[in-house]
Amino acid sequence: MPDVFQPDTPFADGKILKSITDGVGVITFNNPDKRNAMSLEMWEGFGRALTELRDDDAVRVVILRGAGGKAFVSGADISQFEKTRHNAAASEEYARRSAAERALLADYPKPTIACIQGFCLGGGMQVAMLADIRIASHDSQFGIPAAKLGIAYGFDGLRNLVSLVGPSWARLLMYTGMRIDAAEALRIGLVERVFPEGELWGETMAIALAISENAPLAIKAAKITIAQVLKDAGERDMDAVRNIGTACMDSADFREGRQAFMEKRKPQFKGR
Ligand code: COA
Repeated sequence: MPDVFQPDTPFADGKILKSITDGVGVITFNNPDKRNAMSLEMWEGFGRALTELRDDDAVRVVILRGAGGKAFVSGADISQFEKTRHNAAASEEYARRSAAERALLADYPKPTIACIQGFCLGGGMQVAMLADIRIASHDSQFGIPAAKLGIAYGFDGLRNLVSLVGPSWARLLMYTGMRIDAAEALRIGLVERVFPEGELWGETMAIALAISENAPLAIKAAKITIAQVLKDAGERDMDAVRNIGTACMDSADFREGRQAFMEKRKPQFKGR
């Protein structure tokens, strides 16, 4: 993975960077001295970067990555805890201040990929698990050391963990606070693909580019429908599933997809 990135836009004093390459938006957690630990300011900057990439029609997919090669995100910035998270009321306020950004990522309308090298811990796991897909390097490590700090991890984070790895692995990880390596993370379904360090960025970009060449409405239909599948039956928005299905099957892109196949050429999708 290249260490030096060409940032288009810095947020949170440069600790969050946003760039765009070939229709792929990239957000970099850039606080390598602290292993990219997330401060509240970084959450806020992260939200702004996500919003700009969401609203940019040229961007079809977003990659999240950590700078410095040693960590994706090492969790919340523990040095802020004495001031911002020292008891239940402060913790509630802390959670409230980052809730909008987490919701933004959870309901993001474009595909998101977490590109993970090095440590992915605590709040870093929360970010990674909110992404649609996780791609990791062989040297990455995963864990939620909440029990080592005395922190309750919260419902949303644990729901995502349980839905990825099942309740028993979630309990083992949470009760022990243990770290697991990339091979184990792959085996239990926490990450989808694992590559050698030197190939991680290229392979992640290849997946992002493959997504960005496909029909945006078909991807949106898959994203919306899978999100509803994961909800409790009574909470599903089946209208949203039907509406995106109709939009997709009536789209110019579906016509283009059929024609391109018959004409043995590559389709040019417009997202309409
Ligand atoms: N919050 C604040 N600072 C952090 C941090 C975090 N989550 N994670 C790392 N840092 C800081 C360290 O305090 C250290 O600062 P210093 O250079 O001023 O001493 C620096 O980052 C480098 O960390 P270090 O522990 O020396 O590096 P390492 O490569 O040996 O280990 C970690 C990296 C991530 C495994 C280790 O720092 C760690 O366990 N961090 C805490 C992880 C955690 O508990 N996260 C959950 C929070 S909810």
